[in-house]
Amino acid sequence: MPDRATATAHPNIALVKYWGKRPGPGNIPATPSLSLTLDALTTTTTVEVADADRFVLDGAPVADPKIDAFLQALRSEFDIPPLAATSASNFPAGCGLASSASGFAALVTAMDNALGWGLDRDARSEWARRGSGSAGRSIVGGFGMLSERDGRWVARELLAADAWPLRVVVGITSRKRKAVGSTAGMERSRMTSPFYGAWVRSTEEDFADAERAVLERDFGRLARVAESSCLKMHALMLSSDPALFYWNAATVECLHRIRMLRDAGAEVFFTVDAGPQVKAVCTADHESAVRDALEQVPGVDEVLVSGLGAGASCTVSPAPA
Ligand code: PMV
Repeated sequence: MPDRATATAHPNIALVKYWGKRPGPGNIPATPSLSLTLDALTTTTTVEVADADRFVLDGAPVADPKIDAFLQALRSEFDIPPLAATSASNFPAGCGLASSASGFAALVTAMDNALGWGLDRDARSEWARRGSGSAGRSIVGGFGMLSERDGRWVARELLAADAWPLRVVVGITSRKRKAVGSTAGMERSRMTSPFYGAWVRSTEEDFADAERAVLERDFGRLARVAESSCLKMHALMLSSDPALFYWNAATVECLHRIRMLRDAGAEVFFTVDAGPQVKAVCTADHESAVRDALEQVPGVDEVLVSGLGAGASCTVSPAPA
């Protein structure tokens, strides 16, 4: 057993969104979801056996209830010694760039290797999903689908990254941590939004539609279903009580500019998660026009560009003597 391992994982962004959990244990999503894994954003996590549990995130020690609950769930099934985990990302955390997806995918992959469990991809996806719903999708690369199969909620790769090499342009409009995290926000929507049932039903249809669009490389169809899923999720958030409102003025302006580019013939569509950042998905031919347009929006702080990436992977290193 190596005792120490380092894993990397990339965040993913959902084109068909997940927002809402089934009541009960296991962090089971209420809906399937479909995503893209990004290559330019990376989380790297090293896990090693230590004298006490320690968790360091981007250079600072953290005590995070989500991580504690995750370790507790793992410890109910595996014999786990005290662990030190050190995790760093090359992008800001907690502001709608899916750092928890890459974070839990890298953590479970590093633990699996450090502790010699030999989990297969489905089992790692299932465990990552228990840490954070969307993290199950960062175990796979390219286009990922998280849905129920044979009673298990695991991700599978619908299409590899190089099979349809779309580009993602991210407009960062704020680096503030979100006021309401996804777990509390989802529960609020389930309990209070009058639209919750319609959301769950229509997401099943969007999921089937998006799967077909990806398999047929039908950009127009994927653009329609992805924007619709995003806007329906935000309508659900806005109709929760108290309302969940994650956008700022620059977010809205970016959406208008992306639609204007599309009206002028560019292959591009937007999506926004639980935060104010805008992700524009486009074909390589239109990447520079999209980047230029987002850079000109007042309030856009930085624009990142990414291709599609691989699933979580591990490099094992021996523990220091
Ligand atoms: O993985 P969580 O619990 O942070 O939820 C992710 C929720 C969204 O990013 C808004 C949508 C999604 O499917 O990723």
